[in-house]
Amino acid sequence: DKMDTFEKYRPRFHFTPKANWMNDPNGLVYHNEYYHLFYQYYPDSTVWGPMHWGHAKSKDLVQWEHLPVALFPDSLGYIFSGSAIIDKDNTAGFGKDAMVAIYTYHDPVKEKEGSELFQTQGIAYSTDDGETWTKYADNPVIENPGIRDFRDPKVFWNEDRSIWQMVLVAKDHVQIYDSDNLKEWAKISEFRFADNPPLGVWECPDLFKIKVEGSEEEKWVMIISHGTGAPNSGSGTRYFVGDYDGTTFTTQQKESLWIDYGTDNYAGVTYNNTPDGKRIFIGWMSNWEYATTTPTETWRSAMTLPRELKLIKNGDNYLVQSIMIDGFETRYSTVSAEKVSGSYPSNFEYADLQYSAISFDVMIKDELKVVLSNSLDDKYTFGYKKDSGEFYIDRGQSGLVDFNANYKKSSFQTMNIGSWDKLSLNIILDASSVEIFVNDGEYVMTTQVFPQTDFTRFRIEQPAEVDVNNFNLNKINY
Ligand code: FRU
Repeated sequence: DKMDTFEKYRPRFHFTPKANWMNDPNGLVYHNEYYHLFYQYYPDSTVWGPMHWGHAKSKDLVQWEHLPVALFPDSLGYIFSGSAIIDKDNTAGFGKDAMVAIYTYHDPVKEKEGSELFQTQGIAYSTDDGETWTKYADNPVIENPGIRDFRDPKVFWNEDRSIWQMVLVAKDHVQIYDSDNLKEWAKISEFRFADNPPLGVWECPDLFKIKVEGSEEEKWVMIISHGTGAPNSGSGTRYFVGDYDGTTFTTQQKESLWIDYGTDNYAGVTYNNTPDGKRIFIGWMSNWEYATTTPTETWRSAMTLPRELKLIKNGDNYLVQSIMIDGFETRYSTVSAEKVSGSYPSNFEYADLQYSAISFDVMIKDELKVVLSNSLDDKYTFGYKKDSGEFYIDRGQSGLVDFNANYKKSSFQTMNIGSWDKLSLNIILDASSVEIFVNDGEYVMTTQVFPQTDFTRFRIEQPAEVDVNNFNLNKINY
């Protein structure tokens, strides 16, 4: 039975490493019919250590094929986060269509010696679609300019200027670079934002052009992650919508917008080179506050579901996220009415709830409260209060919560999403995660959860069932 082969808490349709520690997604690039996913990986332990790039590929972004480790630490250091591109015109001379990875070297020897200048940028190339790699002989390609945290290069082809560009973070700002050949880089500008109070160190930037839905207008979006200081009290990822003249990024935004209001979506960036021009985002489904202690045994961490980003205008511009259901929807099996007991749909038992998508629209009078629970009375509760405009998630009684004080601390989160008469919700459960998409992805809350046994009960406690429409429960079969 396939069921027996699933390990406890192991997601079935989210990416996890076969074994051992994983953090950030790296080198997201599409080529020759495959989406490649590289990732921060430590093959010798289930906690963070000397970083490698793990590697997997997929045709549908759901079913992944594990591939050999792509990049190993060398004399210049560990291999930290970065990106990958396809060099169609052989600008670097590594070969036409070479896959080139651009990453951070973190030198543990220099760090130990007390030097602050232990992060530089390096490149490597592959001419067999990422299976085997050669490091560039003249690494690093960008020396440390005297800044302690100097990392996470995201390279993209700027089609307006026909040049390679890179965004990378330098402690508390982003730097932008130009290159004709991926080997020589020239700094062209910086982007800063006056945060008060300042957020934790800037990490994992991204910069891309995106059309405003329903118009011909184009904007640019800058994504930045922060290890601490996000609204969820831990690690989080924010973005700015603005303009980019090919040199300088500017924004009129006065406040941060957040990619996700849950605790567990960090260091996410988007794919290069997608065939249909879609802007596809994947994040690491964890939080540095407790990442190394989550209660899984043989591996640690999963990625979020891939999400397509779109920019919409409603007063201001902001991103909405939808799950990528290509080749995925077909695997839904809708639960028949007989399987749903209780006063449908406000209260029911369903054995496969933990591997399902649940969606419905609900009219809000004052409050909404939804509880997922199991036979041991573990509970994952979320809800919404119209008066205060607050959406909340409470995983305080959700099963294993004592493995880390920070996990417990952040278990009751509130996020202000404004006042709504109606909410539409799409909730995706996969073994140890809950992804809640509110109003077609205007707000997204991603959280890990570790119930002692699968959640099988679903209850809408408020409002009365008459206010619930378009209810769907689909088991996701992978
Ligand atoms: C983000 C991060 C990156 C760094 C990597 C190290 O989670 O801290 O800034 O490159 O992880 O594993």
